[in-house]
Amino acid sequence: MEQRPSPEDESSESQNPVYIRLRAVVAAAHFHGINLDVRDFAAEKGEKFPSPATLARWVRAQGGVAKGMRLRWSYLIRLGNTPPVVLMFKDGSAGLMVGTDPARGIVWLRDPLKGEGDPPVPVDQLRLAQVWNGDVLLIKRRRDESEAEARFDLLWFVKLVLREKRGLRDVIFSSMVLSILQIFPALIVMQVIDRVVNYHSMATLVSLTGFVVILSVYEVLLSYGRQELSLVVSTRLDARISLHAFNRLLSLPLEFYERQQSGEILGRFSAVFRVRDFMTGQLLNTMLDLFVLFVVMPVLFYMSPTMAWLTLAAAGAIGLIVVIMLPAVSRVAGQQIRTEMRRNATLYETVAGIRTVKTLALENTRRTEWDERTADVVQWRLASGRMSNWINTFVSPLNMFINRGIILVGAYLILTGSDSMQGGALMAFMMLGGRVASPLVSLARLMETVNEVTVSLNEAGMVLNQPTETKALTTGMRPKIKGALSFTNVNFTYPGSANKALIDINFSVPAGTMLGLVGRSGSGKSTITRLLQGVSRNYEGYLRLDGIDLREINLHHLRRSFGVVLQDNFLFRGTIQDNITAGRPGYTIDDVVRAARLAGAEEFIERMPAGYETWIEEGSTNISGGQRQRLAIARAVISDPKLMILDEATSALDPESEALVNANLQRIGKGRTMVIVSHRLSSLVDCDKIAVMDHGELVDIAPHEVLLERCEIYRTLWLQQNRHINPGASRGGDEDRADEDGGPSEQGRLPGGENK
Ligand SMILES: Nc1ncnc2c1ncn2[C@@H]1O[C@H](COP(=O)(O)OP(=O)(O)O)[C@@H](O)[C@H]1O
Ligand SMILES: [Mg+2]
Repeated sequence: MEQRPSPEDESSESQNPVYIRLRAVVAAAHFHGINLDVRDFAAEKGEKFPSPATLARWVRAQGGVAKGMRLRWSYLIRLGNTPPVVLMFKDGSAGLMVGTDPARGIVWLRDPLKGEGDPPVPVDQLRLAQVWNGDVLLIKRRRDESEAEARFDLLWFVKLVLREKRGLRDVIFSSMVLSILQIFPALIVMQVIDRVVNYHSMATLVSLTGFVVILSVYEVLLSYGRQELSLVVSTRLDARISLHAFNRLLSLPLEFYERQQSGEILGRFSAVFRVRDFMTGQLLNTMLDLFVLFVVMPVLFYMSPTMAWLTLAAAGAIGLIVVIMLPAVSRVAGQQIRTEMRRNATLYETVAGIRTVKTLALENTRRTEWDERTADVVQWRLASGRMSNWINTFVSPLNMFINRGIILVGAYLILTGSDSMQGGALMAFMMLGGRVASPLVSLARLMETVNEVTVSLNEAGMVLNQPTETKALTTGMRPKIKGALSFTNVNFTYPGSANKALIDINFSVPAGTMLGLVGRSGSGKSTITRLLQGVSRNYEGYLRLDGIDLREINLHHLRRSFGVVLQDNFLFRGTIQDNITAGRPGYTIDDVVRAARLAGAEEFIERMPAGYETWIEEGSTNISGGQRQRLAIARAVISDPKLMILDEATSALDPESEALVNANLQRIGKGRTMVIVSHRLSSLVDCDKIAVMDHGELVDIAPHEVLLERCEIYRTLWLQQNRHINPGASRGGDEDRADEDGGPSEQGRLPGGENK
């Protein structure tokens, strides 16, 4: 819908060439019903102006098809009445070409910053050449909507491989020529033995030598070329597969990740790479080798039908063995892969939860689990090794027969005079016969792996074929959000759960409200915030943002409109500044400092030796819990969201930083709707309204004083908490506690209540 940034952005940005370029792309995409948001664009490092390739990636990520290319005027003008084409200008901005008129020699350009109704202006070749650098970006709607959503199965892989038409064609062609060239050495041997040695013909030898040299040169060059080509094809496939798989992973809803163990997800995901290795390595090579068969077999039949049939029979027997063993092989291979995945899950869990493992002294339990899983792995690996050893054992005599035995048969045939072959032909046959066996043997190997791959594919499919959020992420409205919230008869049950987490929630607050959420642990406070962010989307009833049904709003847009701070926030490895911007483009150090100040983090950051450049280690071990929390708040406020959610955000803070954040809360809340979940009521007294939750129901919603008067649950909670100024008293029963293991926060809890 409406995607124009606010007018004040417009005036300051409209001079910026990059902004104009982005807006041209937005307009061109809009023509195809693809809604882009300039804020989604991630600039490429080192690029002064976004290149067509970077822009194309942006469009593709949002569900369109885009291609950057360099065009000459003569081509451009022949495009005729096209959908809008983005022309890159030399100054870094861009124009929008909406049509051409070859007869008059002009193209029609429209101002990217004006609406679709704005009349286009005619531009001729000379004038365009002054501004246009020759690059264009063509945008299309994706024909096959489901491509990004395509199921992850063998068919998908095959389609992907077939898409590399040109590369494949070249590889196939060179392989065929190579196969044909491979016949010649055998034929030459035949000639050397039969003509040169038998008849002592020096002249033949000389001409044969020349022939051999030329042939060898060809063969060397060609196999170099083929290797190079297949390398290109396979790395391209590789990149495509990785990209697609990772995109799928990112577009899975959060709920999926919550239901599954991370270790398992990782294990299954990495199965993709096993499939990839297979498709781009073994499969491709074997298929190419198989060509040899088609070329060599006729020659063999030409030289000696009897021996050719024998060779074929032996080769057939190899195939038969493989087919017979296949079911057993597939069972074992499948087991082996699954046990390995299970063991990897244990590994991952242990590393990820090492803090808990160490503090609870769980090393032995973990070790036992690892031992058991390793034993499984060992057992199945042994079984599958044995299986392939058996196959080898059965196959190798046949292979030997093709390679060596056949010469004995041939000699016998010559001796008994039942074949008209000569000695040279015999040698040649032996050489070529070997070429028949080896692709067949590798085909057998291939069959073994096919099963492994099928298992891997299924495992990967369990993760990647889950329903994604892609549709909600790329479609829907992008309204300008003010922040009025309303819940109408909202009911929600977590998937797989028996009890409702939310029961008939009804309330609404105007934009700019500071809303507190209180209630016992498990009463549904976090669930409310999750519904708001579109994390859980299968609720009943209506949830409206500024009167618009939440389901109609583009999910990216929705989530970006929220600044969210949770109790435990993940900081990425990088500097403090990186963590506050979180890699989002377009923030200057001034923005970072402003956000840090708002979050009450400025003062501690500046005390650090490297200031905003201080490096944060994995697991943020080098800063305290309170500092981490304030960084998280800074990270949330930097984008100036119209809605903020703080879910137990200050629960883990020491009293000093809590006081700092609370003091800033009013300032942070200016011009935004805030939803603050806290079990410490004292930090919510200043809220415009406080919603009291109990067992998934909304008990009451009113300001602090009113609640104190009329809401029993609230009064009880309030009294419980304010009694513990006296350290002997109990601390509010089953309310949730911070799981922080940092010392200061625990000690800070009690005095924290006194702050107000
Ligand atoms: N991801 C989840 N899957 C299933 N049930 C959940 C999930 N998250 C929360 N619940 C359940 O929903 C109810 C409300 O939880 P929550 O909103 O997190 O409570 P609060 O934030 O008030 O402590 C609880 O009974 C909890 O067990
Ligand atoms: Mg909660």
